[in-house]
Amino acid sequence: MFFVDSHCHLNFPDYQAEQNKIIEDAEKLGIKRFLSVGTKLEELPDLIALTRRYDHVFASVGVHPEYATEQGDNFLFIRENINKAAKDPKIIAIGEAGLDYHYGTKETREAQKELFRLQLKAAKQTGLPIIIHSREAEEDTISLLQEETSSDLRGVLHCFSSHRELAQVGLDIGFYVSASGIITFKSAEELRDIFKDIPMDRLLIETDAPFLAPVPFRGRRNEPAFMIKTAEVLADLKKVSTDQLRDQTTQNFFTLFSKAA
Ligand code: NI
Repeated sequence: MFFVDSHCHLNFPDYQAEQNKIIEDAEKLGIKRFLSVGTKLEELPDLIALTRRYDHVFASVGVHPEYATEQGDNFLFIRENINKAAKDPKIIAIGEAGLDYHYGTKETREAQKELFRLQLKAAKQTGLPIIIHSREAEEDTISLLQEETSSDLRGVLHCFSSHRELAQVGLDIGFYVSASGIITFKSAEELRDIFKDIPMDRLLIETDAPFLAPVPFRGRRNEPAFMIKTAEVLADLKKVSTDQLRDQTTQNFFTLFSKAA
């Protein structure tokens, strides 16, 4: 069995010519599948090329809330492109999509919500799971999720670092909750407590590389190989061995992202 990095950005300029090395370094530590997540439509050609170059790299299509105003007034164009890309055999999810009130003014929030709603609908339409980014926007994330919830909406709260209520709403509607390097940060005591209570069969693990490197690499450029540090902390929280954590999170990955199976 192997680990899966369920959320990274291998196409980002941070890696450039090092892509090969980054992937090989992770493989040496047993991380053998990668989901390289899209943040805007312009990334699609690079992401698809990446999945052609590497059999074990998958990708997603979506628009991050940070780009809501940049791309947000052309919803028809976004919808068409997402639906078209979703037909690609290596595009296995919609996202990352969601709300980020850390960025942007109050005026951008309406555009963010519209874009999020569009992608929730696209997820249902295409049958692909949605990767949700939520930052400082818990209340609105909850209401949109509840508005759009249905039996054909599946997904993950990625890089989860919000409060317990959002985690619970996610679990209630059948979503997975994903742990990133944040759980290794000294100040993340409350978050670690939340992860103690996430059922093993709803847990995913990720790096969000190049962001959010776990301790002891905090502050450096993150890479998939560093996920082992997050796995050790998470296994400890769940009172299981690292192998057990690996097997369960990998099984969960293929259950949720069934197109990769
Ligand atoms: Ni990300």
